[in-house]
Amino acid sequence: MRFASLSRADPTKLHDSAIQFLPSHFSLKSLRESAQGCRGCELFRHATQTVFGSGPAQARLMIIGEVPGDQEDRQGKPFVGPAGKLLVQCLEAAGAARSEVYLTNAVKHFKWEQRGKRRLHTKPSMREIRACRPWLEAEIEVVRPRTIVCLGATAAQTVFDRNFRLTQHLGKLMSSPLAHFVIATYHPSSALRAPDLAERHRIKNRLIHDLKIAVKSAK
Ligand code: URA
Ligand code: SF4
Repeated sequence: MRFASLSRADPTKLHDSAIQFLPSHFSLKSLRESAQGCRGCELFRHATQTVFGSGPAQARLMIIGEVPGDQEDRQGKPFVGPAGKLLVQCLEAAGAARSEVYLTNAVKHFKWEQRGKRRLHTKPSMREIRACRPWLEAEIEVVRPRTIVCLGATAAQTVFDRNFRLTQHLGKLMSSPLAHFVIATYHPSSALRAPDLAERHRIKNRLIHDLKIAVKSAK
């Protein structure tokens, strides 16, 4: 479109997708840099910075979460807060190190509401997930992982579609045009939110179990 470059140059203008913020050449570096300026939905307004994915470009395993949390927003890296620590513990128990895996989120800006002194994470809307999807697709295109792990329903609905039900497909190796294998499992934050210790252990053990399947399938 003729005037596309005009609207692109105006950082205060909202667009309804990240698509026009993508670089012309895809590498993790160019994507990460371009994503810092993304205004594809309104979430950038209340966040500190874009939290892009992190990990090796040749990773065989990619793990997709939902949205960065408070710590991730401050540090600019995915999975560095409490849920991230639990994820890394489970990954190690499943036989993989954080450094081998590409970690990212369905949505790249922290979404939150104030509760007292804390900034509590809130669920992104379908519109925000759709707006942010071009970044995820670009990451998948560059990394070309053999296996993708979706943590929780939001990630799984982003990779498949909004009708995806986690309970029906938990821990099953599936395939998709995006990767040879895709597996959906619990989000580590659901273990942190569990009402009691027994439930917390159950979710954590299930997460380790499913990550083992993923790690093996990615070899
Ligand atoms: N939860 C997520 O889904 N992603 C993060 O990066 C941190 C917590
Ligand atoms: Fe862009 Fe995604 Fe951030 Fe929205 S959440 S501004 S689409 S990077």
